[in-house]
Amino acid sequence: MSEVPPNQDVVGDQPIALEDVVDRDALDDLCKSIHALFGIGVRVYASQGALLANVANELELCRYVNEVPGSRAACGATVIAAKSVAPGDDGEVTHPCFTGLAYHIVSLVHEGRRVGRIVLGPYAPAGLREPPPSLAQADKRLDVARASDLAATVPRVKQEALQRIAGHLKETLELIIFSSHKAWVTSKLHLYSVRESYRELQDKTTRLEQTLTRLKEVDRLKSNFLATMSHELRTPLTSIIGYSEMLAEGIAGELSAEQQEYVRTIHAKGEQLLRLIMGLLDLSKLESGTMSLRQAPAQIGPILKEVITTLAPVARKKEVELALDSDDAPCELAADAERLRQVFINLVDNAVKFTPKGGKVTVRARVTAGAAPSGDDDDEAAGAALLAPLLKQVEVRVSDTGIGIPAAERVKVFEAFYQVDSSSTREYGGTGLGLSIVKRIVDAHGGQVSVEGNEPNGTVFVVVLPSAQTRRAALPSRVPPALA
Ligand SMILES: Nc1ncnc2c1ncn2[C@@H]1O[C@H](COP(=O)(O)OP(=O)(O)OP(=O)(O)O)[C@@H](O)[C@H]1O
Ligand SMILES: [Mg+2]
Repeated sequence: MSEVPPNQDVVGDQPIALEDVVDRDALDDLCKSIHALFGIGVRVYASQGALLANVANELELCRYVNEVPGSRAACGATVIAAKSVAPGDDGEVTHPCFTGLAYHIVSLVHEGRRVGRIVLGPYAPAGLREPPPSLAQADKRLDVARASDLAATVPRVKQEALQRIAGHLKETLELIIFSSHKAWVTSKLHLYSVRESYRELQDKTTRLEQTLTRLKEVDRLKSNFLATMSHELRTPLTSIIGYSEMLAEGIAGELSAEQQEYVRTIHAKGEQLLRLIMGLLDLSKLESGTMSLRQAPAQIGPILKEVITTLAPVARKKEVELALDSDDAPCELAADAERLRQVFINLVDNAVKFTPKGGKVTVRARVTAGAAPSGDDDDEAAGAALLAPLLKQVEVRVSDTGIGIPAAERVKVFEAFYQVDSSSTREYGGTGLGLSIVKRIVDAHGGQVSVEGNEPNGTVFVVVLPSAQTRRAALPSRVPPALA
């Protein structure tokens, strides 16, 4: 987050508006206490003329002069002048009223600027004896003697006393303005920093969205490239394999023992390359979601038997015992049998490959109770509880007594091209694609694959596949995209 900018950037360097920052209750209390103590009216105006506090009782004299049209106009003019007359350099001015009374006006200053004014009055200056001639001039109909009597009831205030009251009021009010302004600036700063954080968050989200879009595009291009390259490589490779096979069989004439050996090597390497290319093709199709799974009712037993039959010669050659232990309980899967066969061929092939002579590979299949899909609302939860006994899953454990996979590597082996021992002296061959294909096919069937250690040594790959019914019971949102 960027640094909080200095005050003026946030609140602007405009003069503060007193009505925005001042605490009205505190202002009112203060004016009331002055009025109660000295009997003088107190009004506070903001610099633009807004009246912020008004604590005054109407004087008898004022009421009387307001009854007569001429003096009412003079009274109005006096009030307007008191609101607008400019206090002198010392910030104070006394403005006389045509009745002989007076107003004392004091500027309110904040950070060197005049932000408002206090108007004290009307009051009778201590030296006032007779009403001035201006009273009679305001309206001939005015009873000057009566006005004089009423003026005598107005509190008399000495100029020094008035200046002290005004000074005290000014200081206290400026303190209120100072603290109110501080609180106002703090809240503005807070608001600004929240807005700033929100804006930064939005910027980051936008940048992340753009990056995600770019990455998706790069990923799509990569998958397209892989698919095209693999496809283009496969055609010439099929010719190399076919012709080397024909040569080895002597169709083009007898070969010497040495020639035979070379041709068989070409053939074997060609097959290896073809497997790699097919793996890449599968992976890119699975990644881009273009591999269509042919969903059909299937049982796990026959698939596993076929896998064992396919890999029995490899195991025998390596002198590794290969066993199938299936409870043969029926459990219908909605699966692409060809792809599931690919999953277990990869797992059993790995198990045999990474198990030394004399070891054992066991494929164990069990039908177990499936996890009921948990609903978000009560109705769904009740439905899930009723379905629970019907929901089944198949668990297949491929265990071996081989070299094992260290615990820290067990998640990584599912990444494409990841091999635990990737040194150039690696004796097992392969490209590291098998398990990433396994994981993607299992995911696409709504299942899970994980690795455990085998005691005392070796590895167990566990594949869990939900039954067709369990998958139907799952919420549509939980069905993997490949199946939805
Ligand atoms: N049963 C196992 N025992 C020990 N290590 C294993 C076992 N299965 C897999 N691994 C480790 O996981 C790595 C990745 O396996 P994966 O099947 O993806 O690749 P690969 O067998 O090396 O090559 P490919 O399958 O593409 O021919 C292996 O290279 C190996 O290090
Ligand atoms: Mg493999």
